[in-house]
Amino acid sequence: MIRVAVIGAGHWGPNLITNFHTSGRSRVARVVDRDKARLEAAAQRFPDVAFGTDAGEVFDDTEIDAVVVATPTSTHFELARRALEAGKHVLVEKPLADSAEQCEALCELAEKVNRVLMVGHVFVYNDAAERVKEYIRSGDLGRVYYISMLRTNLGPIRVDVDAAWDLAAHDISLASHWLDAWPISASATGGSWINEGIADAVFATLRFPGEILVNLHASWLNPRKAREITVVGEAKMLTFDDVNLSEPLRIYDKQVTEQRSQAAFVDDFSAFRMIVREGDIRVPHVSMSQPLKNECEHFLDCLLNGEKPRSGGAEGLAVVKTLEAISASREAGGSLVEVGIK
Ligand SMILES: NC(=O)c1ccc[n+]([C@@H]2O[C@H](COP(=O)([O-])OP(=O)(O)OC[C@H]3O[C@@H](n4cnc5c(N)ncnc54)[C@H](O)[C@@H]3O)[C@@H](O)[C@H]2O)c1
Repeated sequence: MIRVAVIGAGHWGPNLITNFHTSGRSRVARVVDRDKARLEAAAQRFPDVAFGTDAGEVFDDTEIDAVVVATPTSTHFELARRALEAGKHVLVEKPLADSAEQCEALCELAEKVNRVLMVGHVFVYNDAAERVKEYIRSGDLGRVYYISMLRTNLGPIRVDVDAAWDLAAHDISLASHWLDAWPISASATGGSWINEGIADAVFATLRFPGEILVNLHASWLNPRKAREITVVGEAKMLTFDDVNLSEPLRIYDKQVTEQRSQAAFVDDFSAFRMIVREGDIRVPHVSMSQPLKNECEHFLDCLLNGEKPRSGGAEGLAVVKTLEAISASREAGGSLVEVGIK
């Protein structure tokens, strides 16, 4: 039985506590939060868990095997570093840390102490998202032209990271997982209205190998909760709506093809014309398991069976490098910035 400690019992932490506490292979032994009111709320839900306000208690507890970090991004590096140094396996919420430099340090440390470092890129554990990956990999959609990803809501408004770092981290990890590649360059704009210097809405375009464009719209200043993705392929197109739990996917048998004119005496220029083909729209059945449960179980698989994390330190680093490129482009007025992932 893996003994887990969760640091951070705010909005997201209790979901992680529930999953690790109810898994047949782990239980949550300790929960830490600096905020006593939040600790008390969590203590009522999980009466058999030890609660405290000092993360040091977790690192000193030799019976704790793994630490889950569910605190604001600005605290991730320090808490994950201390956990690894104490010999614990670590699952850190996204994004892994504040900078690529910090991510690299965590990756090196995890390797040195031979512990698992995983990042909570929860969308790569989503069944509908896996189905999309299959459609792309099998060639069903044909060559992928572009992907557009919309992730909006009214709040939660962060003060330590902007909307791209908070929200688009999911989309970057997902698009890269689908395309088996990392972005080459980014160009982005955004606006700060609520807190000076922190972008509430970011509009970014990532260029992937093969001339594939991925467009991101991430905002916590929007009246509508939307998690909508469109994948436009040469042969077919699809939409993935993560808010629609019963029918998340739609496959559009639509494409643009070139047709040769039958006219006998046409010049070369008018011998071809583009035809829009409107075929069926299919709603494939996806039996959905809980993505966060899958993520937590995968973390346990990595600890117990030596599996390689699907969202490990390297993936966390690549997402943060992409976020850095988005921020740099935004600060430079939208100019193209190389992401520089090796
Ligand atoms: N995977 C997802 O879909 C998802 C969803 C929401 C949040 N998150 C991530 O989870 C993390 C937490 O987000 P949240 O919405 O729960 O934030 P939150 O502000 O609601 O909760 C964070 C908690 O951490 C506590 N905390 C801060 N510093 C601490 C420290 N040094 N030691 C102990 N406790 C500390 C705070 O008191 C607070 O209760 C973030 O990294 C966020 O990006 C992921």
